[in-house]
Amino acid sequence: TSNINLAVVAGDGIGIEVVEQGLAVLEAALKGTDATVSQTAFNLGAQRWHATGETLTDADLDAIRGHDAILLGAIGDPTVPSGVLERGLLLKLRFALDHYVNLRPAKLFAGVRSPLAEPGEIDFVVVREGTEGPYVGNGGSIRTGTPHEVANEVSVNTAFGVERVVRDAFARAAARQRKHLTLVHKHNVLVHAGHLWRRTVEAVNAEFPDVTTDYLHVDAATIFLTTNPSRFDVIVTDNLFGDILTDQAAAITGGIGLAASANINPDRTAPSMFEPVHGSAPDIAGQGKADPTATVLSVAMLLDHLGYAAESAKVTAAVAADLVERGTRVRSTAEIGTDLAQRVAE
Ligand code: IPM
Ligand code: MN
Repeated sequence: TSNINLAVVAGDGIGIEVVEQGLAVLEAALKGTDATVSQTAFNLGAQRWHATGETLTDADLDAIRGHDAILLGAIGDPTVPSGVLERGLLLKLRFALDHYVNLRPAKLFAGVRSPLAEPGEIDFVVVREGTEGPYVGNGGSIRTGTPHEVANEVSVNTAFGVERVVRDAFARAAARQRKHLTLVHKHNVLVHAGHLWRRTVEAVNAEFPDVTTDYLHVDAATIFLTTNPSRFDVIVTDNLFGDILTDQAAAITGGIGLAASANINPDRTAPSMFEPVHGSAPDIAGQGKADPTATVLSVAMLLDHLGYAAESAKVTAAVAADLVERGTRVRSTAEIGTDLAQRVAE
């Protein structure tokens, strides 16, 4: 038998309830295989910060490193100053564990209503860079709070960092049917970073001659995501553009309740982390209203990453079947989770 040694960071708000259902589906998917799951729950998030002032200590990080993968719910709470948990916990995990591929699939499942009148077929994946860009926290302000304040956020783009994520995106495109890669940036304004990305895509393309490429400025990309999302296959882009585009991608494919993501360390020098794209939604937390589907689809990505392709496919198929039959029926978080676990076990 093999054991999946899983670190669980449920976090804040609805993170707690959706992770509970995600874990139930994970157990159901592995039933009848020789694999087992052992879990370590990490108390991280708002409660821990209020109690101790800590976000993520070196000891937490060391303990997490010893696991095969991380399942994360959501981080953030209105009682904690904006940025403290985001930077001190979520981004610290992504950076420290070198999650340079932030993988965010966007698929319009059958039975799901898009807000677009004629969405067509939507099935693309965003490869969002995860360890650089404006997210590095390389900034500062002077004369803070005065009329003469100057506040800078520096976007860091290294040849090393851009090349490794671009190569990963090409490999993903090469493995897909349409084999098409779109670089999204803003090289008409952000000329230094933009041209580094453009040159890198051109250079790495030589290694993947059967992949076609094109380029969109990020503002134009938002237009096409609305008017012709079928044109996209794989999008590669920087950390901040990827953050924004993947919320739009979630919206056109039925909403943030269905959007899964994987923070991948492709070199496997540290555990990868799987989390719904949505946040902690404190306004509905604890009411059983949250849709656990995004977390369940993140569990499917986790299974796939760890080599359980068949079990991953079972989870995705269960979600697909559930979405076809869902209609306008309203079920609680636990009801949806139980239904999905049941389908997976069938
Ligand atoms: C996301 C979130 C995070 C991000 C926040 C909470 C730091 O919006 O996962 O998309 O900006 O990456
Ligand atoms: Mn986001």
